[in-house]
Amino acid sequence: MKITVIGTGYVGLVSGVCFSELGNEVICVDHIEAKIEMLNRGEVPIYEPGLQTLIANNRERGRLRFSTDLGASVKHAEVIIIAVGTPSLPNGQANLSFIEQAASEIGQAMNGYKIIVTKSTVPVGTNERIRDIIAQHSKEPFDIASVPEFLREGTAVSDTMNPDRIIIGTDSEVVRERLTELHRSLTSNIIVTDIRSAEMIKYASNAFLATKISFINEIANICEKVGADVTKVAYGMGFDQRIGASFLKAGIGYGGSCFPKDTQALIQIAGQMDYDFKLLKSVVEVNREQRFNVIRKLESLMGHLAGKTIGIWGLAFKPETDDVRDSPAFEIIAALTEMGAKVKAYDPIAAENFRRNCDVDSLIYCDTAREAAWQADALCVLTEWKEFQHIPLSEIESWLKSPYLIDGRNIYKEEQLANTQLVYYSVGRPGMNRGVKEPAPYILL
Ligand code: UDX
Repeated sequence: MKITVIGTGYVGLVSGVCFSELGNEVICVDHIEAKIEMLNRGEVPIYEPGLQTLIANNRERGRLRFSTDLGASVKHAEVIIIAVGTPSLPNGQANLSFIEQAASEIGQAMNGYKIIVTKSTVPVGTNERIRDIIAQHSKEPFDIASVPEFLREGTAVSDTMNPDRIIIGTDSEVVRERLTELHRSLTSNIIVTDIRSAEMIKYASNAFLATKISFINEIANICEKVGADVTKVAYGMGFDQRIGASFLKAGIGYGGSCFPKDTQALIQIAGQMDYDFKLLKSVVEVNREQRFNVIRKLESLMGHLAGKTIGIWGLAFKPETDDVRDSPAFEIIAALTEMGAKVKAYDPIAAENFRRNCDVDSLIYCDTAREAAWQADALCVLTEWKEFQHIPLSEIESWLKSPYLIDGRNIYKEEQLANTQLVYYSVGRPGMNRGVKEPAPYILL
């Protein structure tokens, strides 16, 4: 099939590359020339395991091209995939200006029947708006479809090649057949639905996953008070198939390009229909609060933080990505510096992106994990990079000035602590806290 993908962000680039890997002839389009030049030089603008090799292979086979010429690329294809960004407006609503721009340019370039697929996360009703915009510019026949994308950063290629399900929202029989054919080799779980339900499935899925995370984070906070271990609680819960084991890792809350944006957008969508989505508002609030637990723990161990040196390990919102969008590290570092602490940070991949987006000028960027921990009064782990898990705790102890370790992602196991004097605090595992005067455990009277 001849496919054009508009937008070379995570979703667009990975989808385009994977469709070419499946044997389709793909053009990925972006209006940012520097990005297309990079891709044409064989460089990849995002860090995503496996992507660079796939790009090189498929360019060599002549099935994958990159272009800034949207008009010519639309003319080339039967299927046009819109995968442009829908960032948040200040009120939390999705900004649809890139979508509308793409739709109008598609309309102007139409030269025969095409299927216009939206992969961007868009509010319910947006695909109908896209149809109207294209129809304003063209008399050519076309159909629209909503095919939301569920890939995760860091595992984007394998998520795209082995999806749990493909959702096809359409009102056209031709689209049902053609898009089912396009996705058939990926999964047998192809669910065809109406357009509005498909748009809603994406928001509802992300909101539900965010809810699981905030739920387990609150359970972790309660575990700390009653003397239970949240990792064991989550493990025990996960065997119930109605609950499922994934997305029950307690930590410092979710970040990234999707959950924060999509939860806010769904709250807005509901609000516009006079529906107060109370549960999701609480999920967002709990998530924001959770990141500050790191600071509360530091204060409870060390008192005032003014003048203290705090080492930070991890700036990306999760491991295996250089993406820092909505990373909890921003607010944690800003709060620490505001309290007068000196902060040194290290991230294996994301430091450069963080530097570009962080307005804390006094933040010291370190080249190694050791440098960030060296002579610090405390060390906080904010991202669960494998590199950190493999550093012996005795070594960390020898680097620190004071032996305080706050593990915001529960990356260390009890046995790793055995031969250290570290004062250790993780999330929802009070039994592992070391050297800390515990409040008396909750006793049932
Ligand atoms: C998410 C969705 O998973 C994906 O389906 C959608 O297409 C885009 O948004 P992504 O943001 O790449 O993907 O990462 P994900 O692995 O879902 O993690 C999101 C955040 O939740 C991270 O900050 C992560 O640290 C946090 N998280 C995840 C937890 O705190 N606990 C968990 O158990 C799982």
